[in-house]
Amino acid sequence: MNFLCPICKEELIQQDKSFVCKNKHTFDKAKSGYVNLLTVNNKNSKIPGDNKIMVNARRDFLSKGYYKVLSDNLNELVYKYAKEKTSPQILDAGCGEGYYINNIYNHLIENKISADILGIDISKFALNVASKHNKKIKFGVASIFNLPVKSNSCDLLLNLFAPFSDDEFLRVLKGDGLLFMVIPSTKHLWELKCAVYDTPYENEVKDYTLEGFNLIDKKIIKDYINLSCNEDIKNLFMMTPYYYKTSIDNVKKLDNLDTLKTKIEFEILVYQKEK
Ligand SMILES: C[S@@+](CC[C@H](N)C(=O)[O-])C[C@H]1O[C@@H](n2cnc3c(N)ncnc32)[C@H](O)[C@@H]1O
Ligand SMILES: [Zn+2]
Repeated sequence: MNFLCPICKEELIQQDKSFVCKNKHTFDKAKSGYVNLLTVNNKNSKIPGDNKIMVNARRDFLSKGYYKVLSDNLNELVYKYAKEKTSPQILDAGCGEGYYINNIYNHLIENKISADILGIDISKFALNVASKHNKKIKFGVASIFNLPVKSNSCDLLLNLFAPFSDDEFLRVLKGDGLLFMVIPSTKHLWELKCAVYDTPYENEVKDYTLEGFNLIDKKIIKDYINLSCNEDIKNLFMMTPYYYKTSIDNVKKLDNLDTLKTKIEFEILVYQKEK
């Protein structure tokens, strides 16, 4: 699977240090290996997506293995469906630092499945980290709302904790293509929320219905993690949507915490494009 040129929509072919389309539009790879496919028109801000601080917080947290249980379960579930395809075409839409897609790539290789994998994210800081870790996955800076891939080209599409675009996901998935999503369950990070809020609320798990898709598989993951230093606790909090909504006084409550045991609860949802 190749990226499409953001200017003329022709396929971009990798040539040493750049990607070139047949109309000779050329996009150079960054030193770390990703390619920037974001044109001025589809950039909403000067530096879109997650900034360096957020990217580093997530990279440090995930690299310590706190969410390994989720990653292992995703590996298994992706493998279950990828093994039915001859050369699975996989896109991770909003891949961030590539933690999950890199683990999926390694798991598929260990199981002798050679997949063609692309990852896109709107943050070049995230892709800088991602492309340093895996040179076999093609990483491109692009928007989920304007995916740089052909219609009907993906067997498997991952959308993990990133914005959702039903139009684009339905466009790029093949007729029997699958969408993998992860949602937090009711008590996810309950103890972390108790440390910050006087009256925490449980997460609301919404209806699973997605227009244009049928839910075909689901895996519930419930576990505990033991956060072993203040930095890990703060990094985790920065990864959550609460980070933006919490008052400075409440965030300060985390300053004196050096360890924390908290629940993690996820649901992996597998949808098939409706025929
Ligand atoms: C919470 S992070 C999740 C990253 C990764 N999937 C993971 O689970 O580790 C959300 C990601 O979505 C990216 N993002 C936000 N808006 C986007 C958009 N319009 N198009 C592509 N990526 C976007 C952010 O830059 C960020 O890397
Ligand atoms: Zn072009």
